[in-house]
Amino acid sequence: MAKKIYTERFEIPGKVCIVTGGGGLIGMKHCEAIVEGGGVAVLLDIVPEGMERVKKSVTEEYGEDTRIECFVTDITKREALEKVRDSLLEKYGHIDVLINNAANNPKVEGGSKNLGAMRFHNFPVELWDQDIAVGLTGAMLCAQVFGEVMEKQKSGVILNISSDYGLIAPDQRIYRKEGLPEEEQTIKPVSYSVVKHGLIGLTKYLAVYWAEKGIRVNTLCPASLENGQDPAFQEKIGKLIPLGRMSRPDEYVCTILYMISDAATYMTGATVVLDGGRTVW
Ligand SMILES: NC(=O)c1ccc[n+]([C@@H]2O[C@H](COP(=O)([O-])OP(=O)(O)OC[C@H]3O[C@@H](n4cnc5c(N)ncnc54)[C@H](O)[C@@H]3O)[C@@H](O)[C@H]2O)c1
Repeated sequence: MAKKIYTERFEIPGKVCIVTGGGGLIGMKHCEAIVEGGGVAVLLDIVPEGMERVKKSVTEEYGEDTRIECFVTDITKREALEKVRDSLLEKYGHIDVLINNAANNPKVEGGSKNLGAMRFHNFPVELWDQDIAVGLTGAMLCAQVFGEVMEKQKSGVILNISSDYGLIAPDQRIYRKEGLPEEEQTIKPVSYSVVKHGLIGLTKYLAVYWAEKGIRVNTLCPASLENGQDPAFQEKIGKLIPLGRMSRPDEYVCTILYMISDAATYMTGATVVLDGGRTVW
């Protein structure tokens, strides 16, 4: 076997890696990437059950010495984030990676609860405020609180999780259900597009702001995750994707580990798109 020169750069031994929304679908994949790289996964979520499910599953897969910490935390509250920071610094003395992954992620695909009331013209400002608070303000606050530690350390990585909808508008036709009147058709809400586009702006701003402080900041755009949507929806969306299908959650893990590790030391301010080619069509 040839000797290995480069692959050890993907290892992140002992790195303390925070994942917001760590109890969700992709949270599990971030956690696997961190654990497989040898890091300490720190999950932040408002729902404890999701984090416990992730911790149990990843520990079963990777073994009892897996290091996963869970904090029930609302990322829209700065004081809550400061408590997490203080607790991590007391225990580990450093914070190395922040993955801004939490978002309100309304499911509007076929078979989902009908969100017909959420047309653009009557989209409630309260929902707009909540979505912006979690997806954008939460990411900004996490970058402030944990980025300050990274700045002092002169090293760190921030990965913002956007979406193909951070680059293109939702094609609302795929969410339509035959036979429903117009006012009852479901649509992807405007706040989702604004949050996901906004995260790319946050990435570029911070990448430049911290370029000389040893902190890299990048965006990953996942897209179209297969998660039990009905076959009719999967067929409709598949036609918009050159690879012809939705993605599997496991198709993100290697890219996540690459982006948060020293394999990507020259990458900052970048937008990495994993969308089966959807945005190039
Ligand atoms: N699933 C997809 O198809 C898809 C596609 C593209 C992008 N994304 C993005 O990937 C990310 C993760 O998506 P997912 O499918 O895992 O979503 P998910 O809904 O399964 O997970 C999001 C998690 O965020 C948590 N959360 C919500 N508000 C919070 C708060 N105030 N503080 C802390 N945690 C909070 C939720 O409890 C949930 O566990 C999101 O940013 C989403 O927009 C998902």
